[in-house]
Amino acid sequence: MPHIVTDNCDGCRFTDCVSNCPVACFHGNDERLFIDPDVCIDCGACIPACPVKAIYDVVVMPKEFTRWIAINAEMVTQLPVISGKQVPKPAAEAQKLRLGF
Ligand code: F3S
Repeated sequence: MPHIVTDNCDGCRFTDCVSNCPVACFHGNDERLFIDPDVCIDCGACIPACPVKAIYDVVVMPKEFTRWIAINAEMVTQLPVISGKQVPKPAAEAQKLRLGF
């Protein structure tokens, strides 16, 4: 089962997750990233890399995030692969504090 990106990525887009990913499974728009479930190899390396705990293994994810499984699968078909660390959103650090990290 793949990993997925959930709510906390919105407005942050730190992209540290991409740096830890050994495959090209991350796709993104200007606000956030998504994981391609067909490319993710379930290594879990992205989970500790995210400063706002936005990524979960679908096997152990909280129920309130399950809607993100379908959203990730759909959005990656419409967005380009993000292949390296990028500049976070301007308000990312403020959003991180607001989220309690
Ligand atoms: Fe988003 Fe966290 Fe990656 S904020 S871009 S899932 S490091």
